[in-house]
Amino acid sequence: MNILNIKLIFILFIINTCQYLSCEGVNSEATRPVVLWHGMGDSCCFSFSLGAIKIIIQEQLPGVYVKSIKIGCDEIEDVANSYYGNVNNQIDEVCNMLEKDEKLKNGYNAIGFSQGGQFLRAVAQKCPNPPMKKLISLGGQHQGVYGLPNCGSMQYKMCDYLRKMLNYAAYIRPIQERFVQAEYWHDPLKEEEYKQGSIFLADINNERVINETYKKNLQQLEALVLVKFDNDTMVQPVESEWFGFYKPNQSVELETLQQSLIYTEDRLGLKQMDLNGKIHFLSVQANHLQFTDHWFKEQIIHKYLTMS
Ligand SMILES: *[C@@H]1O[C@H](CO)[C@@H](O)[C@H](O)[C@H]1NC(C)=O
Ligand SMILES: *[C@@H]1O[C@H](CO)[C@@H](O)[C@H](O)[C@H]1NC(C)=O
Ligand SMILES: *[C@@H]1O[C@H](CO)[C@@H](O)[C@H](O)[C@H]1NC(C)=O
Repeated sequence: MNILNIKLIFILFIINTCQYLSCEGVNSEATRPVVLWHGMGDSCCFSFSLGAIKIIIQEQLPGVYVKSIKIGCDEIEDVANSYYGNVNNQIDEVCNMLEKDEKLKNGYNAIGFSQGGQFLRAVAQKCPNPPMKKLISLGGQHQGVYGLPNCGSMQYKMCDYLRKMLNYAAYIRPIQERFVQAEYWHDPLKEEEYKQGSIFLADINNERVINETYKKNLQQLEALVLVKFDNDTMVQPVESEWFGFYKPNQSVELETLQQSLIYTEDRLGLKQMDLNGKIHFLSVQANHLQFTDHWFKEQIIHKYLTMS
């Protein structure tokens, strides 16, 4: 082999290595942007909730871009919009926001807090550009709720009122279009009314028809991480956080995701994802969203938001 050939091989080797590092190396993965969507009664930026979470992520992943979704002009409107409005419109607005953000164009990981978990899943299913890579759902209610016990002491009256109203009239169109929690209210004793009337959850769970686009888009996720809070006194039933629910036509016995029709009929591609090892079931022995900083760093940031 002459010297020229050796040089050529060396140069090719260098070019290859550089391409690997710059396109798919540790760097780009470690700094993949993160999108957050807060829960009911919360906002994008309160220093005691998602503001603090954003700081932790930025400390652990230096240089990372974190976008915390805000709906409305300020934090007050953002909180109000977590109770009032049409979630489908909010999701359209968020899709628009993410698509316009240059920093997200190569993809992002998403973390949903409580109802933000199912809303971000809808974003994954409806809006493949920019691509969501991993979805981490912290106490999200993927099969909805049939009760909101103890939903925040500060908003106690509001919660009580909501619960009473939803028990009577969740599936009436004007209620559906105005009250966020009605849109994922899942009454197991009125399964048919839920399927026909729920403008948000029954749609993204492919209850009425199988929307192949939703199925295809969801399956593009590298990972769906479902975190359940075992001692959750706010979400009923807690199994909804792992995509489980009540068995049909009663409100006592529960079934897991794997026992449900959405899985056995593979209406949403979840069976395929599960068989491919893409669904991660995590649990925390604590009340709703009561995780520690240590847990969040070890079990979420370093497990799912970095390379290994
Ligand atoms: C399926 O979802 C896509 C994306 O949201 C939508 O454009 C389309 O109309 C839906 N199809 C059906 C049959 O609902
Ligand atoms: C939390 O839930 C777990 C699992 O259901 C249970 O074993 C534990 O006793 C509960 N802890 C508290 C403080 O209720
Ligand atoms: C639940 O009730 C509905 C309406 O009465 C019925 O159509 C359906 O077959 C029932 N499902 C099961 C699993 O019994």
